[in-house]
Amino acid sequence: MSDAAANPLKAGLEDVVVSTSDICFIDGHKGRLLYRGFDVDDLVAQSTFEEVTYLLWYGKLPSRKELDAHVKALSSTANRKLPPKLITMLRQLPKKTTPMEVLRTGVSALSAFDPDAADNSREATLRKSIRLTAQMPTLVAAWERIRRGKPVVAPNPKLSLSGNFLYMMTGKKPTELATKTFDVALILHADHEFNASTFAARVTAATLSDVHSGVVSGIGALKGPLHGGANEQVMLMVQKIKDPAKADAWIRQALADKARIMGFGHRVYRVEDPRAKHLKRLALELGQQAGSTVNIQILDIMAGVVSAAKHIFPNVDLYSGAAYASMGISTDQFTPIFAMSRVAGWAAHILEQHGNNRLIRPRSDYTGATDAKYVPLAER
Ligand code: SDX
Repeated sequence: MSDAAANPLKAGLEDVVVSTSDICFIDGHKGRLLYRGFDVDDLVAQSTFEEVTYLLWYGKLPSRKELDAHVKALSSTANRKLPPKLITMLRQLPKKTTPMEVLRTGVSALSAFDPDAADNSREATLRKSIRLTAQMPTLVAAWERIRRGKPVVAPNPKLSLSGNFLYMMTGKKPTELATKTFDVALILHADHEFNASTFAARVTAATLSDVHSGVVSGIGALKGPLHGGANEQVMLMVQKIKDPAKADAWIRQALADKARIMGFGHRVYRVEDPRAKHLKRLALELGQQAGSTVNIQILDIMAGVVSAAKHIFPNVDLYSGAAYASMGISTDQFTPIFAMSRVAGWAAHILEQHGNNRLIRPRSDYTGATDAKYVPLAER
């Protein structure tokens, strides 16, 4: 066995602590989530996504002056707009290209147009983080319009990040409730310690690569159905069930078939994910406003059965899709929305990794052959 085998192997790095961080704290047993020490419940009640991005990146709540400057940078057309050549590039993609593929491709291409691309200083990485946080909603909305054969809607600097995204998606100004709801959803998805996509971003940053590359790594990891892709899978499940009267039998059959039920369970939380209650409330409010709460009824029935049968509980992905669906957002846009928020966390962790870096390079416990003899092709 290799000398690395001395450490006991933990599948999936479960509970393995790989470094210190003072960005995000999760208490898996009490169901608590803190961003820079502030409880996410307080941030949901009193903050905005723009302020949360400041908190994550600078480690403190901004003064009025600091917040105004930060919001101005995030809202400016210069930072929100996409280079025209990138939009031309998007138009070359097959219309069936999924929004997550477009986001991964588009963020990668944005570095080619970014004036700070070659500069990995903290100041440049902060400028690039502002641009990426401002541009990703524009990228997601632009693809939504292009793939549906509609004109791309230019960003409106007068609207908040949430309001502007909903406006660019539809061409119509969103309601106060939709904007507020969406903003809360972005706050709730902004960071979550060393989750798979954030760790992917940190591994990339630890090679001293740049923030665009780290964010592309994060998007690639978030796309998977065991991670950010779960919110889309939950809605596909709800659409299959359709009728609340069928939900109980459907989910019991799925459990009997040993299926993995999307939206439930978590590597760290041993109780309900503290974000789920907020997303459930938002989904209910929006469903009532839209005139249908069928999706929530189905999800609640599922939650009762799965929690009782498997002692695994709703996570952040269970209710988020129902909220987005009530705003008329298509299912395959749910994970890109997750990414539009989590870019705040990815950037914070990239900044922290760059600030006190050591290359992240674990070992494997080698179990293959050690004395293989080469046999010439003619003799095989
Ligand atoms: C996110 O890490 C983060 O912080 C992620 C995230 C963030 O904000 O970044 O919180 C966002 O990704 C939330 C999770 C979204 N994914 C899903 O909803 C997919 C469904 N969930 C599972 O696949 C699972 O719960 C994971 C992947 C989230 C966690 O899985 P683990 O820790 O690897 O647990 P496991 O697969 O080893 O399962 C342990 C047991 C198993 O039972 P046994 O085989 O031992 O009898 O629990 C069961 C599993 O079968 N189990 C489930 C289940 N989740 C765990 N059984 C059915 N359905 C599930 N969802």
